[in-house]
Amino acid sequence: MFLRNEWYVAGFGHEFGERPLQRWLLGEPLVLYRGASGGVVILEDRCPHRGAPISAGEVCGDAIACGYHGFTFDPSGACIHIPGTSTIPREARVRAYPAIERWGWVFVWMGEAAQADQARLPDYHWLVEPGWEGRSEYLSVKANYGLVRDNLLDLTHARYVHRKTLGTAAVTDHPISTEARGRGVRVTRVMTDIEPSPFFKRMGGFTGQVNHHQQIDFAPPCHVVINTRVSSVTGSHENRSAQFHVLNALTPENARSTHYFWGLVRNFALGDEAVTQMQQRLNRETFFEDLAILEQQQVLLDCKPAGWRPVATRNDGGCVQAERLMSRLIEAEIQARNEQ
Ligand code: FES
Ligand SMILES: [Fe+2]
Repeated sequence: MFLRNEWYVAGFGHEFGERPLQRWLLGEPLVLYRGASGGVVILEDRCPHRGAPISAGEVCGDAIACGYHGFTFDPSGACIHIPGTSTIPREARVRAYPAIERWGWVFVWMGEAAQADQARLPDYHWLVEPGWEGRSEYLSVKANYGLVRDNLLDLTHARYVHRKTLGTAAVTDHPISTEARGRGVRVTRVMTDIEPSPFFKRMGGFTGQVNHHQQIDFAPPCHVVINTRVSSVTGSHENRSAQFHVLNALTPENARSTHYFWGLVRNFALGDEAVTQMQQRLNRETFFEDLAILEQQQVLLDCKPAGWRPVATRNDGGCVQAERLMSRLIEAEIQARNEQ
């Protein structure tokens, strides 16, 4: 069960080229490519002729020819050429998904094309905003996207999972506050006068005590932006502050697998490639620590006994609210579809 009338990240702009790429989203096969006029195109990757993957074919101008018998489709999904005949049956078309390229990422609307609403694009503008610097990366996680979302909404796991990287004991000693915000959920944790985590010691060069402010914004269906602000209380960098945004788009591949597109941007040491490399490496290592837990969690939840329920505490506030919100939205979407 996925929300369909929403924007999901389908890929990075540089992945769209004249070589078609197959990617499954929400359990549906898609073909991604870039047409000769430069636009990104996303079509259903199941040829209406014999069901072969169109992505096995090749891009011709703005269209794409299926690799099996050459049926050719334009960006609207209409078949424009069938080798050996001038008659094109009306049913010879594939679904075209609205797609927008923005900030180096490509967003796809997985619901009804007529309802695609650009105003509902999630906000990842820091990827290109002057004053911020960083990179994007991709990770395949063999776990439901909701588990990845909850991992980001409850950062108390850092004390245990990320002992060597992000971990700070302070994370469990400072409670969170959770609030509904716009269409989403915000979790805030303020940790004052704490020892910086290994990540911030290395990245920010903080030596003494710091104030560490975490703000996590979840926007349906699967977008999480973590803003971390660290400022020194004592030590060699007194009064200095450093900010990061961790940008997380958790696109379901299917119910048990997630395309995890992430970006990490900072507002200091601009132009320093060595810092960018280190930040990416440290964050990648951190995400691999999460991945090890998440993939095992999926296996264990797949065979949970009947009636098993997770036990929630105060720190799960963000996870619980996000889950409720998603259930509400999915229910409303199903109802609207049934009423049509
Ligand atoms: S299956 Fe695509 S052209 Fe025949
Ligand atoms: Fe984590």
